[in-house]
Amino acid sequence: KPRVFSGIQPSGGLTLGNYLGAIKRFVEMQDQGIETIYCMVDMHAITVWQDPDALKRQTRELAAGYLAAGLDPKKSILFNQSQVSAHAELGWVFNCVARMGWMNRMTQWKDKTSGKDAEKASLGLFAYPSLMAADILLYHATHVPVGEDQKQHVELTRDIATKFNHDYKVDFFPITEPVIEGAATRVMSLRDGTKKMSKSDPSDASRINLTDDADTISKKIRKAKTDAEPLPDSFDALADRPEAKNLVNIYAALAGMTKDAVLAEYAGQGFGAFKPKLADLAVESLSPISTEMARLMQAPDEIDAILGQGADRADAIARPIMERTYDIVGMVRSR
Ligand code: TYM
Repeated sequence: KPRVFSGIQPSGGLTLGNYLGAIKRFVEMQDQGIETIYCMVDMHAITVWQDPDALKRQTRELAAGYLAAGLDPKKSILFNQSQVSAHAELGWVFNCVARMGWMNRMTQWKDKTSGKDAEKASLGLFAYPSLMAADILLYHATHVPVGEDQKQHVELTRDIATKFNHDYKVDFFPITEPVIEGAATRVMSLRDGTKKMSKSDPSDASRINLTDDADTISKKIRKAKTDAEPLPDSFDALADRPEAKNLVNIYAALAGMTKDAVLAEYAGQGFGAFKPKLADLAVESLSPISTEMARLMQAPDEIDAILGQGADRADAIARPIMERTYDIVGMVRSR
């Protein structure tokens, strides 16, 4: 039976990249009636420094974003990672299954430490992918919807499951499938079409935040870097135009259209015509979410109650799998 798991770090505001690459897909999967479990991975967030008050606020804001975008605590399990202690427990077991070499080859580890002193990175940052594998495998999840940048981590999860099953001669952990689909699996910066849109980019103009108001969204899109050429009639012709390609992808994902359908509508037109349409579409899709997020943030106790109930439901699935894991590994469990 399929079971979906995914997570987002509460390490800053949500961006259009998180929305199109992840949350929008989470909602679609929930509404297909599949069992869906969505986590706010606060323990991953502290692999880099987080101010404690900011972390609490960001966790509640992420929960508000999930809810505002259409996740329903009656249909999906919504919880924050640290409230289900088995994540840390299975993460430790996987630290002993995974190899240092595997971690050293992770491109996100290399990117986050390149040009810096890797000796000063936290040990948690190095082990990050092992905890992520624990998140997924603790629920025997079969499918993990993520953006393109998480593909290597899900592949590592498969390697950890395979090695665990092999070492202990069991067929216990499933081999999970990444689900990387849609027009916007890699939303790029609005200032540089070769860089990923990211909550950690120092330039706020490079991204659209889910908390941006209508004016800010329009302004950022109107100022987005582009070129002077009109839009072509086929997507292949955009190969060397990363900024143009990105805006077409965003349009397609927001409108629920194929990229070719977008180009069929706008071929021959320049960005002077395309950007205002994109801005309208973005405002129309995102404003209701930011309004609802702001409303939900007025009632943090309600958010906390939802996370608490979600954690109870998550724990009910996770605990037996954790106990079985301890048994397989050879831990005496006598109370
Ligand atoms: P995080 O918090 O960086 O991002 C959350 C999700 O948003 C996607 N995403 C994007 N998609 C398209 N374009 C972008 N510019 C963009 N930026 C972010 C990410 O691919 C991701 O799906 N390691 C994960 C969190 C995690 C997790 C897990 C995910 C922890 N445990 C278990 C799945 C399953 C991360 O840092 O995502």
